[in-house]
Amino acid sequence: MRFLVTGSNGLVGSRVCEQLVQAGHEVVGLGRGGKRTGGAYRYVPVELTLEADVLTAIEAASPEVIIHPASMTEVDACEKNPEQAYAANVTAVAAVAKGARRVGAHLVHVSTDYVFDGDHGPYDEEALPNPRGVYAITKHMGEQAARVFAPGCAIARTAVVYGWPAAGRPNFGAWLVGALEKKQPIKLFEDQFVSPSFADSVAAMLVELGARKLGGIWNTCGGEVVDRVTFGRALCEVFGFDASAITPSKLADLKLPSPRPLRSGLKVDKVQSQLAAKPLSLSESLARFHAAWKAGTTPPRGG
Ligand SMILES: NC(=O)c1ccc[n+]([C@@H]2O[C@H](COP(=O)([O-])OP(=O)(O)OC[C@H]3O[C@@H](n4cnc5c(N)ncnc54)[C@H](OP(=O)(O)O)[C@@H]3O)[C@@H](O)[C@H]2O)c1
Repeated sequence: MRFLVTGSNGLVGSRVCEQLVQAGHEVVGLGRGGKRTGGAYRYVPVELTLEADVLTAIEAASPEVIIHPASMTEVDACEKNPEQAYAANVTAVAAVAKGARRVGAHLVHVSTDYVFDGDHGPYDEEALPNPRGVYAITKHMGEQAARVFAPGCAIARTAVVYGWPAAGRPNFGAWLVGALEKKQPIKLFEDQFVSPSFADSVAAMLVELGARKLGGIWNTCGGEVVDRVTFGRALCEVFGFDASAITPSKLADLKLPSPRPLRSGLKVDKVQSQLAAKPLSLSESLARFHAAWKAGTTPPRGG
Protein backbone atom coordinates (compact mmCIF):
# COMPACT_ATOMS: atom_id res chain seq x y z
CA MET A 1 0.00 0.00 0.00
CA ARG A 2 1.01 3.64 -0.41
CA PHE A 3 1.41 5.45 2.93
CA LEU A 4 2.16 9.07 3.74
CA VAL A 5 3.51 9.74 7.24
CA THR A 6 3.85 13.22 8.79
CA GLY A 7 6.43 14.04 11.48
CA SER A 8 8.78 11.42 10.03
CA ASN A 9 11.71 12.98 11.95
CA GLY A 10 9.82 12.56 15.25
CA LEU A 11 9.74 9.73 17.76
CA VAL A 12 6.52 8.07 16.64
CA GLY A 13 6.67 9.07 12.95
CA SER A 14 10.17 7.64 12.53
CA ARG A 15 9.05 4.25 13.92
CA VAL A 16 5.96 4.22 11.74
CA CYS A 17 8.11 4.83 8.63
CA GLU A 18 10.58 2.15 9.68
CA GLN A 19 7.87 -0.48 10.21
CA LEU A 20 6.08 0.37 6.97
CA VAL A 21 9.30 0.11 4.96
CA GLN A 22 10.11 -3.23 6.64
CA ALA A 23 6.65 -4.52 5.73
CA GLY A 24 7.26 -3.61 2.07
CA HIS A 25 4.90 -0.63 1.81
CA GLU A 26 5.59 2.42 -0.32
CA VAL A 27 6.27 5.34 2.06
CA VAL A 28 6.51 9.11 1.75
CA GLY A 29 7.58 10.85 4.95
CA LEU A 30 6.85 14.54 5.53
CA GLY A 31 9.07 16.47 7.93
CA ARG A 32 10.38 19.92 8.67
CA GLY A 33 13.81 20.77 7.28
CA GLY A 34 16.15 17.94 6.29
CA LYS A 35 15.66 14.20 6.79
CA ARG A 36 17.08 13.40 10.25
CA THR A 37 16.33 9.69 10.54
CA GLY A 38 17.41 6.64 8.57
CA GLY A 39 15.09 4.49 6.52
CA ALA A 40 14.54 3.78 2.85
CA TYR A 41 11.56 6.05 2.27
CA ARG A 42 11.04 9.13 0.15
CA TYR A 43 11.27 12.28 2.25
CA VAL A 44 9.57 15.59 1.45
CA PRO A 45 10.12 18.71 3.60
CA VAL A 46 6.79 20.45 4.26
CA GLU A 47 5.69 23.07 6.78
CA LEU A 48 2.35 21.56 7.76
CA THR A 49 0.73 24.83 8.79
CA LEU A 50 0.82 25.96 5.14
CA GLU A 51 -2.30 24.35 3.71
CA ALA A 52 -1.47 24.85 0.03
CA ASP A 53 1.93 23.15 0.49
CA VAL A 54 0.34 20.27 2.41
CA LEU A 55 -2.29 19.70 -0.27
CA THR A 56 0.36 19.79 -3.02
CA ALA A 57 2.50 17.21 -1.18
CA ILE A 58 -0.44 14.90 -0.52
CA GLU A 59 -1.69 15.11 -4.10
CA ALA A 60 1.80 14.37 -5.41
CA ALA A 61 2.19 11.32 -3.15
CA SER A 62 -1.38 10.14 -3.79
CA PRO A 63 -1.39 7.88 -0.68
CA GLU A 64 -4.05 5.31 0.21
CA VAL A 65 -3.39 5.93 3.91
CA ILE A 66 -2.08 8.96 5.83
CA ILE A 67 -0.69 8.56 9.37
CA HIS A 68 -0.41 11.94 11.10
CA PRO A 69 1.76 11.98 14.26
CA ALA A 70 3.29 15.44 13.59
CA SER A 71 2.39 17.91 16.30
CA MET A 72 3.76 20.60 18.58
CA THR A 73 4.28 18.26 21.53
CA GLU A 74 6.10 20.31 24.17
CA VAL A 75 3.35 21.11 26.65
CA ASP A 76 4.81 24.21 28.30
CA ALA A 77 5.99 25.66 24.96
CA CYS A 78 2.39 25.37 23.74
CA GLU A 79 1.17 27.24 26.81
CA LYS A 80 3.63 30.07 26.10
CA ASN A 81 3.00 30.16 22.31
CA PRO A 82 -0.71 29.58 21.74
CA GLU A 83 -0.60 30.87 18.14
CA GLN A 84 2.11 28.37 17.24
CA ALA A 85 0.32 25.57 19.12
CA TYR A 86 -2.97 26.31 17.34
CA ALA A 87 -1.27 26.37 13.95
CA ALA A 88 0.59 23.06 14.52
CA ASN A 89 -2.14 21.17 16.38
CA VAL A 90 -5.29 22.45 14.69
CA THR A 91 -4.58 24.26 11.38
CA ALA A 92 -2.09 21.57 10.28
CA VAL A 93 -4.51 18.75 11.15
CA ALA A 94 -7.25 20.42 9.13
CA ALA A 95 -4.87 20.73 6.17
CA VAL A 96 -3.79 17.08 6.38
CA ALA A 97 -7.40 15.90 6.78
CA LYS A 98 -8.53 18.00 3.78
CA GLY A 99 -5.70 16.44 1.78
CA ALA A 100 -6.78 12.97 2.87
CA ARG A 101 -10.34 13.63 1.74
CA ARG A 102 -9.18 15.13 -1.56
CA VAL A 103 -7.19 12.01 -2.57
CA GLY A 104 -9.54 9.51 -0.89
CA ALA A 105 -6.94 8.37 1.67
CA HIS A 106 -7.78 6.88 5.05
CA LEU A 107 -6.49 9.14 7.87
CA VAL A 108 -5.02 7.95 11.18
CA HIS A 109 -4.69 11.04 13.34
CA VAL A 110 -2.53 10.79 16.48
CA SER A 111 -3.78 12.42 19.68
CA THR A 112 -3.20 12.23 23.41
CA ASP A 113 -4.56 11.27 26.83
CA TYR A 114 -4.17 14.98 27.68
CA VAL A 115 -7.62 15.56 26.12
CA PHE A 116 -8.85 14.39 29.56
CA ASP A 117 -8.67 16.44 32.74
CA GLY A 118 -7.04 13.61 34.67
CA ASP A 119 -9.46 13.80 37.59
CA HIS A 120 -10.82 10.25 37.27
CA GLY A 121 -8.66 8.21 34.88
CA PRO A 122 -7.94 5.81 33.35
CA TYR A 123 -10.19 6.57 30.40
CA ASP A 124 -11.74 4.39 27.71
CA GLU A 125 -12.61 5.49 24.19
CA GLU A 126 -16.14 6.55 25.22
CA ALA A 127 -15.03 8.92 28.01
CA LEU A 128 -15.79 12.60 27.53
CA PRO A 129 -12.73 14.84 27.04
CA ASN A 130 -12.25 17.91 29.20
CA PRO A 131 -8.87 19.34 28.12
CA ARG A 132 -6.98 21.81 30.31
CA GLY A 133 -4.15 23.97 28.99
CA VAL A 134 -3.23 25.05 25.48
CA TYR A 135 -1.59 21.79 24.36
CA ALA A 136 -4.56 19.73 25.54
CA ILE A 137 -7.18 22.07 24.10
CA THR A 138 -5.47 22.33 20.71
CA LYS A 139 -5.04 18.53 20.55
CA HIS A 140 -8.75 18.13 21.28
CA MET A 141 -9.58 20.69 18.58
CA GLY A 142 -7.27 18.78 16.23
CA GLU A 143 -9.34 15.64 16.79
CA GLN A 144 -12.47 17.57 15.78
CA ALA A 145 -10.75 19.02 12.69
CA ALA A 146 -9.74 15.50 11.62
CA ARG A 147 -13.31 14.24 12.06
CA VAL A 148 -14.84 17.23 10.22
CA PHE A 149 -12.60 17.06 7.13
CA ALA A 150 -11.87 13.30 7.05
CA PRO A 151 -15.02 11.56 8.33
CA GLY A 152 -14.29 7.90 9.04
CA CYS A 153 -10.77 8.69 10.21
CA ALA A 154 -9.12 6.95 13.17
CA ILE A 155 -8.26 9.05 16.23
CA ALA A 156 -5.38 7.21 17.92
CA ARG A 157 -4.72 8.52 21.44
CA THR A 158 -1.41 7.69 23.02
CA ALA A 159 0.49 8.68 26.18
CA VAL A 160 4.05 9.24 27.53
CA VAL A 161 5.80 7.74 24.53
CA TYR A 162 9.41 6.60 24.95
CA GLY A 163 11.95 4.77 22.84
CA TRP A 164 15.35 4.45 21.31
CA PRO A 165 16.88 5.86 19.18
CA ALA A 166 15.57 9.10 20.57
CA ALA A 167 14.35 10.73 17.36
CA GLY A 168 12.62 14.08 17.87
CA ARG A 169 12.71 15.88 21.18
CA PRO A 170 14.12 14.00 24.23
CA ASN A 171 11.56 11.45 25.42
CA PHE A 172 10.84 10.48 29.04
CA GLY A 173 12.46 7.04 28.91
CA ALA A 174 15.59 8.15 27.04
CA TRP A 175 16.00 11.15 29.37
CA LEU A 176 15.68 8.87 32.39
CA VAL A 177 18.28 6.37 31.15
CA GLY A 178 20.68 9.22 30.26
CA ALA A 179 20.37 10.73 33.75
CA LEU A 180 20.75 7.34 35.48
CA GLU A 181 23.85 6.56 33.39
CA LYS A 182 25.38 9.87 34.53
CA LYS A 183 24.37 9.05 38.13
CA GLN A 184 22.41 12.29 38.39
CA PRO A 185 19.81 12.61 41.16
CA ILE A 186 16.34 12.30 39.65
CA LYS A 187 13.00 13.55 40.88
CA LEU A 188 9.94 11.76 39.52
CA PHE A 189 6.26 12.47 40.19
CA GLU A 190 4.55 9.95 42.42
CA ASP A 191 1.19 11.67 42.00
CA GLN A 192 0.85 11.48 38.21
CA PHE A 193 -0.61 8.26 36.81
CA VAL A 194 0.06 7.56 33.14
CA SER A 195 0.13 4.82 30.49
CA PRO A 196 3.81 4.68 29.45
CA SER A 197 3.96 3.63 25.81
CA PHE A 198 6.89 2.10 23.93
CA ALA A 199 7.18 3.93 20.59
CA ASP A 200 7.59 0.78 18.46
CA SER A 201 4.44 -0.70 19.98
CA VAL A 202 2.46 2.51 19.37
CA ALA A 203 3.74 2.55 15.77
CA ALA A 204 2.62 -1.06 15.21
CA MET A 205 -0.93 -0.15 16.30
CA LEU A 206 -0.99 2.95 14.06
CA VAL A 207 0.23 0.92 11.09
CA GLU A 208 -2.51 -1.66 11.68
CA LEU A 209 -5.21 1.02 11.99
CA GLY A 210 -3.99 2.41 8.68
CA ALA A 211 -3.60 -0.88 6.82
CA ARG A 212 -7.05 -2.09 7.93
CA LYS A 213 -8.57 1.39 7.37
CA LEU A 214 -10.24 1.33 10.78
CA GLY A 215 -12.08 4.44 11.99
CA GLY A 216 -13.18 5.78 15.37
CA ILE A 217 -11.28 6.39 18.60
CA TRP A 218 -8.51 4.00 19.70
CA ASN A 219 -6.32 4.06 22.80
CA THR A 220 -2.96 3.11 21.27
CA CYS A 221 -0.69 2.98 24.30
CA GLY A 222 1.04 0.74 26.82
CA GLY A 223 -0.99 -1.87 28.69
CA GLU A 224 -0.47 -0.64 32.27
CA VAL A 225 -1.28 2.54 34.19
CA VAL A 226 1.46 3.46 36.69
CA ASP A 227 2.81 6.52 38.46
CA ARG A 228 6.14 7.87 37.19
CA VAL A 229 8.12 6.65 40.22
CA THR A 230 6.91 3.10 39.65
CA PHE A 231 7.92 3.41 35.99
CA GLY A 232 11.37 4.73 36.98
CA ARG A 233 11.98 1.93 39.49
CA ALA A 234 10.86 -0.73 37.01
CA LEU A 235 13.23 0.76 34.43
CA CYS A 236 16.10 0.65 36.96
CA GLU A 237 15.44 -3.04 37.55
CA VAL A 238 15.48 -3.90 33.84
CA PHE A 239 18.54 -1.72 33.03
CA GLY A 240 20.44 -2.62 36.22
CA PHE A 241 20.55 0.91 37.67
CA ASP A 242 20.47 1.78 41.36
CA ALA A 243 16.89 2.91 42.00
CA SER A 244 17.93 4.97 45.04
CA ALA A 245 18.88 7.76 42.58
CA ILE A 246 15.12 8.34 42.20
CA THR A 247 13.42 10.64 44.68
CA PRO A 248 9.62 10.80 44.62
CA SER A 249 8.22 14.32 44.20
CA LYS A 250 4.81 15.82 43.58
CA LEU A 251 3.69 17.40 40.31
CA ALA A 252 1.19 19.36 42.36
CA ASP A 253 4.12 21.12 44.15
CA LEU A 254 5.71 22.34 40.90
CA LYS A 255 4.71 25.61 39.35
CA LEU A 256 4.73 24.53 35.70
CA PRO A 257 3.34 26.88 33.04
CA SER A 258 0.76 24.33 31.84
CA PRO A 259 -1.59 22.13 33.86
CA ARG A 260 -1.15 18.35 33.50
CA PRO A 261 -3.63 15.56 34.14
CA LEU A 262 -2.86 13.77 37.42
CA ARG A 263 -5.01 10.62 37.36
CA SER A 264 -4.69 9.95 33.67
CA GLY A 265 -3.98 6.74 31.77
CA LEU A 266 -5.91 5.01 29.01
CA LYS A 267 -7.83 1.73 29.09
CA VAL A 268 -6.75 -0.72 26.40
CA ASP A 269 -9.60 -3.28 26.25
CA LYS A 270 -10.57 -2.18 22.72
CA VAL A 271 -7.12 -2.55 21.14
CA GLN A 272 -6.54 -5.70 23.18
CA SER A 273 -9.64 -7.35 21.72
CA GLN A 274 -9.67 -5.87 18.20
CA LEU A 275 -6.09 -5.34 17.02
CA ALA A 276 -3.41 -7.91 16.23
CA ALA A 277 -0.83 -5.41 17.55
CA LYS A 278 -1.48 -5.83 21.30
CA PRO A 279 -0.60 -3.31 24.02
CA LEU A 280 2.51 -4.41 25.93
CA SER A 281 2.91 -4.96 29.66
CA LEU A 282 5.34 -2.58 31.38
CA SER A 283 7.94 -5.33 31.83
CA GLU A 284 7.75 -6.39 28.16
CA SER A 285 7.99 -2.74 26.99
CA LEU A 286 11.00 -2.08 29.19
CA ALA A 287 12.70 -5.29 28.08
CA ARG A 288 12.30 -4.23 24.44
CA PHE A 289 13.47 -0.69 25.26
CA HIS A 290 16.54 -2.11 26.99
CA ALA A 291 17.34 -4.36 24.02
CA ALA A 292 16.97 -1.44 21.60
CA TRP A 293 19.10 0.80 23.83
CA LYS A 294 21.88 -1.81 24.09
CA ALA A 295 21.85 -2.47 20.35
CA GLY A 296 21.90 1.27 19.65
CA THR A 297 24.72 2.19 22.03
CA THR A 298 26.98 -0.84 21.53
CA PRO A 299 29.38 -0.36 18.59
CA PRO A 300 29.28 -3.26 16.13
CA ARG A 301 32.12 -5.83 16.58
CA GLY A 302 35.18 -4.83 14.61
CA GLY A 303 33.58 -1.42 13.95
N1 LIG B 1 5.68 11.88 23.13
C1 LIG B 1 4.71 11.73 24.00
O1 LIG B 1 4.96 11.52 25.20
C2 LIG B 1 3.27 11.79 23.56
C3 LIG B 1 2.26 11.56 24.52
C4 LIG B 1 0.92 11.61 24.10
C5 LIG B 1 0.61 11.88 22.78
N2 LIG B 1 1.61 12.12 21.88
C6 LIG B 1 1.24 12.43 20.50
O2 LIG B 1 1.95 11.55 19.64
C7 LIG B 1 2.27 12.23 18.43
C8 LIG B 1 3.73 12.02 18.11
O3 LIG B 1 4.54 12.51 19.15
P1 LIG B 1 6.12 12.35 19.13
O4 LIG B 1 6.53 11.99 20.50
O5 LIG B 1 6.53 11.53 17.98
O6 LIG B 1 6.54 13.87 18.89
P2 LIG B 1 7.91 14.47 18.35
O7 LIG B 1 9.03 13.51 18.53
O8 LIG B 1 7.99 15.82 18.98
O9 LIG B 1 7.64 14.59 16.78
C9 LIG B 1 6.72 15.51 16.26
C10 LIG B 1 7.18 15.88 14.88
O10 LIG B 1 6.24 16.80 14.31
C11 LIG B 1 6.97 17.75 13.56
N3 LIG B 1 6.25 19.00 13.42
C12 LIG B 1 5.75 19.76 14.42
N4 LIG B 1 5.19 20.85 13.92
C13 LIG B 1 5.32 20.79 12.57
C14 LIG B 1 4.96 21.63 11.50
N5 LIG B 1 4.31 22.79 11.71
N6 LIG B 1 5.28 21.27 10.24
C15 LIG B 1 5.95 20.11 10.02
N7 LIG B 1 6.32 19.26 10.98
C16 LIG B 1 6.01 19.60 12.25
C17 LIG B 1 8.24 17.98 14.37
O11 LIG B 1 9.19 18.54 13.53
P3 LIG B 1 10.59 19.10 14.11
O12 LIG B 1 11.38 17.84 14.37
O13 LIG B 1 11.11 19.95 13.03
O14 LIG B 1 10.24 19.84 15.36
C18 LIG B 1 8.55 16.57 14.88
O15 LIG B 1 9.45 15.89 14.03
C19 LIG B 1 1.85 13.69 18.62
O16 LIG B 1 0.63 13.89 17.97
C20 LIG B 1 1.69 13.83 20.12
O17 LIG B 1 0.72 14.80 20.44
C21 LIG B 1 2.94 12.06 22.24
